[in-house]
Amino acid sequence: MRGLALSLAAGFASAVVMLAFSGGQIYALDENNCLSCHGNPELTKTNGEGKEVSLYVSEEAVNTAAHRFIDCTTCHTAQPHQVNTPLTKLSLAQKCGTCHQYQYKLHLQSVHGQQLAQGNPDVATCVDCHSPTGNPHSVIRVLEYSAPAYKKNIAQTCAKCHDNEELMASYGIVEKVYESYMRSFHGKAIQLGTYEITQLDKATCTNCHGYHDIKSTRDPTSPVSGVQNLAKTCEQCHPGAGVEFARGFLGHKEASPENIPAAHYTEVFFTILLTVVVVAGAFVVVTAVVRFAINRWREE
Ligand code: HEC
Ligand code: HEC
Ligand code: HEC
Ligand code: HEC
Ligand code: HEC
Ligand code: HEC
Ligand code: HEC
Repeated sequence: MRGLALSLAAGFASAVVMLAFSGGQIYALDENNCLSCHGNPELTKTNGEGKEVSLYVSEEAVNTAAHRFIDCTTCHTAQPHQVNTPLTKLSLAQKCGTCHQYQYKLHLQSVHGQQLAQGNPDVATCVDCHSPTGNPHSVIRVLEYSAPAYKKNIAQTCAKCHDNEELMASYGIVEKVYESYMRSFHGKAIQLGTYEITQLDKATCTNCHGYHDIKSTRDPTSPVSGVQNLAKTCEQCHPGAGVEFARGFLGHKEASPENIPAAHYTEVFFTILLTVVVVAGAFVVVTAVVRFAINRWREE
């Protein structure tokens, strides 16, 4: 009995000491000491496309990743050097898909996933939205404030590609989607909100376009194509919005005589009105000043 109590006390004491010395740090699972080689930043390999890829795995990144409790060999098998993966953007998504099958299937049918399946590296794959560095070992949980997929950050994550005019023009995408979104009520309100999820109730890219299942805007099943679908999208947050509310929405377009003329001419009207009011106001002030000066001069 006394022996048990003693060993329990000793066990407790050593646990306290270990916690104190580890400083609350959680270490990723690396039961086979893979990092003894892969912790070397110089380790590289030529991949299936003839490109040199880094085989470096940052211990610091793994320690804070969503997968820190999963051992290397769970994802890489006990014989990682027997499997010869091409190490491309597509093979990466396939590997994530072995566990996250639902997300993988949705992504594969999206405008990004379809291009990826054809070997196009320009489009978004899992790590473009889930890893701050694009490395598969630094994927972080979606509700972390610093996560690229967190609601307050997602517009900037999409903007990595969608604010690249040259890249977008090569796909015939002409609207300045990021700029116009940031100018919109929703964009400004999200930036002003705190990181608290309750204050981020305004719409961002993914509320209108989806995330794993993003469709081309020319696809009739896209949540933003046609006023019927668009109205349903607005109604998620604007109850009873209806098609007229959706019809008044400019999307990412600037108002012009061809595109929503009512909004365009209203804008023009108010611009003219504002100019007239300002000019007339200035005229009144200036004439008053001049008259005052003349009167003073006459008096002298
Ligand atoms: C003795 C050093 C060493 C250790 C320990 C080691 N690796 Fe490697 N690993 C390498 C080298 C070198 C390569 C590149 C081999 C090549 O060029 O084909 C590599 C390649 C890889 C690759 C890419 C393989 C591919 O082509 O698909 C993966 C994944 C990998 N290692 C994972 C692991 C995991 C997981 C562990 C622990 C279970 C581990 N390694 C332990 C040295 C090591
Ligand atoms: C949650 C799953 C997961 C865990 C855990 C994991 N990896 Fe990976 N790893 C991946 C994926 C996905 C890839 C990309 C594979 C591809 O491109 O085909 C990858 C790629 C690699 C590569 C190739 C280089 C690269 O960065 O693309 C190496 C080397 C590697 N892992 C080593 C490790 C080591 C060492 C550990 C443990 C510290 C580890 N991995 C833990 C999922 C994981
Ligand atoms: C275009 C950006 C984007 C791509 C590409 C993407 N995701 Fe996501 N993912 C998100 C967003 C945004 C969320 C949800 C964040 C939230 O709930 O606020 C999310 C959520 C998740 C979740 C949490 C559960 C869930 O479904 O909400 C997992 C797991 C996940 N993604 C895995 C993946 C995998 C695996 C891939 C690749 C096959 C992938 N994601 C590709 C943006 C993306
Ligand atoms: C071996 C299976 C496995 C593989 C492979 C894997 N994951 Fe995970 N993933 C998990 C598990 C299990 C969790 C939940 C971890 C937890 O809750 O602590 C998770 C969590 C996540 C989350 C956080 C979800 C949330 O709710 O915040 C994201 C995002 C994610 N994974 C994306 C990926 C991506 C991207 C890849 C490929 C680079 C990948 N996963 C590969 C098993 C896996
Ligand atoms: C790694 C780069 C990259 C990231 C990150 C990315 N995209 Fe894309 N996206 C592309 C490319 C390239 C295309 C063009 C594909 C095509 O037309 O075949 C595209 C196409 C689209 C389309 C279809 C455009 C059309 O022609 O109708 C939409 C919508 C879209 N992306 C939304 C998003 C959203 C929302 C996010 C963030 C959650 C995002 N994308 C993140 C690269 C990216
Ligand atoms: C309130 C809803 C809403 C939000 C928020 C939103 N979009 Fe859109 N998006 C639309 C609608 C509607 C269209 C189709 C009409 C148009 O092109 O303006 C569209 C079109 C697009 C297109 C295709 C443009 C083209 O020239 O073909 C892309 C790419 C896109 N959005 C990406 C994004 C990104 C990235 C964000 C966030 C920075 C975002 N959207 C935010 C509703 C939205
Ligand atoms: C994710 C939720 C969400 C979605 C989806 C959404 N909105 Fe909003 N929107 C909000 C919130 C929250 C406000 C702020 C409401 C307030 O302060 O009264 C807002 C405000 C607005 C405003 C300015 C303030 C006002 O009430 O007049 C307009 C205009 C607007 N939304 C249009 C749209 C349109 C059009 C769509 C569909 C294309 C849409 N929204 C989709 C959440 C959303």
